[in-house]
Amino acid sequence: MTPKRILLTGAAGHLGGVLRRSFAGQFQLLRLSDVVSLGTAGESEEILTCDLADAAAVRALCEGVDAIIHLGGIAYETGWPALLQSNIVGTINLYEGARHAGVDRVIFASSNHATGMHPNDRTLSGESPPRPDSRYGLTKAFGEDVAALYAYKHGIRSLCLRIGSCLPKPDNRRALSTWLSHADFVRLVQVGLTADYIHEIVYGVSDNTRSWWDNSAAYRLGYEPQDNAEIYAAEVGNIELDTELARHYQGGNFVPNEFSGRKEWLG
Ligand SMILES: NC(=O)c1ccc[n+]([C@@H]2O[C@H](COP(=O)([O-])OP(=O)(O)OC[C@H]3O[C@@H](n4cnc5c(N)ncnc54)[C@H](O)[C@@H]3O)[C@@H](O)[C@H]2O)c1
Repeated sequence: MTPKRILLTGAAGHLGGVLRRSFAGQFQLLRLSDVVSLGTAGESEEILTCDLADAAAVRALCEGVDAIIHLGGIAYETGWPALLQSNIVGTINLYEGARHAGVDRVIFASSNHATGMHPNDRTLSGESPPRPDSRYGLTKAFGEDVAALYAYKHGIRSLCLRIGSCLPKPDNRRALSTWLSHADFVRLVQVGLTADYIHEIVYGVSDNTRSWWDNSAAYRLGYEPQDNAEIYAAEVGNIELDTELARHYQGGNFVPNEFSGRKEWLG
């Protein structure tokens, strides 16, 4: 069944804007939510301002939709107080709201930073265990487990996207491996809205020649990426991340930030 009524959290953000533009007029209802302003509602759009940390407000937000695309939250490394509210409490509230409202499925924006402490000479899949590179990455690993709880225990289909670098185009050598084009992001979300799954973790990545990720689980669900970062390789040239740690680990610049690991343990 293709969902007709969709809730999009984090709708004012970068990726929220990509989906809002692409989904305009495609559904009976596109409910847009964020903690910041979303402008005026277009045709078939509804705008609800809501802090994800507010359980009662999130419960009301989830009423009457078939599917939720959960992009809302802090998308960078910062201190625990803010991450706890937006990403931990916020994700719990979202799934709890979905359960109360009888929502069929949730697509959760996880991140490659949930697995960022794996070296980049390793090929990971959605079954690879988390190895977060930051507090932010840890909140995403936690979100993947929340998704599993609500899928297997409460029957909410959950697709977790470990998004790489969703940018107009790759801007350094790392992104030649991690890039997700805007168009492929939309394709992957469309698969999430219609495919048959219980709880899956896949990578949000284009068909990059240098990808670090085996995304066959996403392909099985029907994802057919059309873009490959390699066409930007000449343009990117030798633009590299600054530190050896950032170049060695999949998490890139998140890794050296606050790093105090043991050199003899470095894989
Ligand atoms: N862009 C990428 O390449 C990328 C990579 C990995 C993961 N992700 C994840 O995808 C999602 C979207 O990313 P983005 O680049 O659009 O980020 P973004 O920062 O542009 O958007 C996130 C939105 O969430 C909203 N938000 C934050 N805290 C909130 C709260 N407490 N209540 C309600 N709304 C809140 C923000 O106002 C913002 O509009 C995020 O969850 C991010 O962690 C993105």
